[in-house]
Amino acid sequence: MIFTVAIDGPAAAGKGTISRAVAARFGFAHLDTGLLYRAVGAKVAAGAEPEAAARALLPVDLQAEGLRSLEAGQAASRVAALPAVRAALVDFQRRFARRDGGAVLDGRDIGTVICPEAEVKLYVTASAEVRAHRRWMELGGDAAQVLAEVRERDARDMGRADAPLRPAEEAMVIDTSDLSIDDAVARAVALVAARLESR
Ligand code: DC
Repeated sequence: MIFTVAIDGPAAAGKGTISRAVAARFGFAHLDTGLLYRAVGAKVAAGAEPEAAARALLPVDLQAEGLRSLEAGQAASRVAALPAVRAALVDFQRRFARRDGGAVLDGRDIGTVICPEAEVKLYVTASAEVRAHRRWMELGGDAAQVLAEVRERDARDMGRADAPLRPAEEAMVIDTSDLSIDDAVARAVALVAARLESR
């Protein structure tokens, strides 16, 4: 069975939690595509050329230490604005999306560019303040700076020319600003279940 769930949205909106829960609930494979850009960003920070780093990416690179840090997120956002880096990562993501057995991919351009034919498209969002607070709870640091970094990353991800972050046309929006994790997951699961039933 080919069935793709595309989950896009800004940093710390809850995409990862929802994606993992949906994948576990329906037995689908899950790909956190942000990790691809984080791994490329880490290689570039260590001196690699961006496109070559993206083309040579290996599964083991996704397990590198420190990829979840704020700095790694900023480095990812910077390399993600380079068209050659994005192009190098397209085929892998498309193959993953259409693999047999169902797939959930979360990122910024899954419903718009990587898999516009996805059976379910979700746009998971929350206010910048709520998202910054979550990041700060998770990683600590200076709260005002975390908010500034969230805003900076939003502006870069939404403002770039190639595959900017925006909801796909038919995407269903889940705003998690005032939702518990359980409620957000329940909404996503219900939308996927309804689509599976209607096939
Ligand atoms: O989801 P994340 O915070 O791990 O993503 C890190 C950065 O990678 C994000 O700021 C922009 C980029 N990214 C992207 O451009 N396209 C994707 N599909 C996923 C992430």
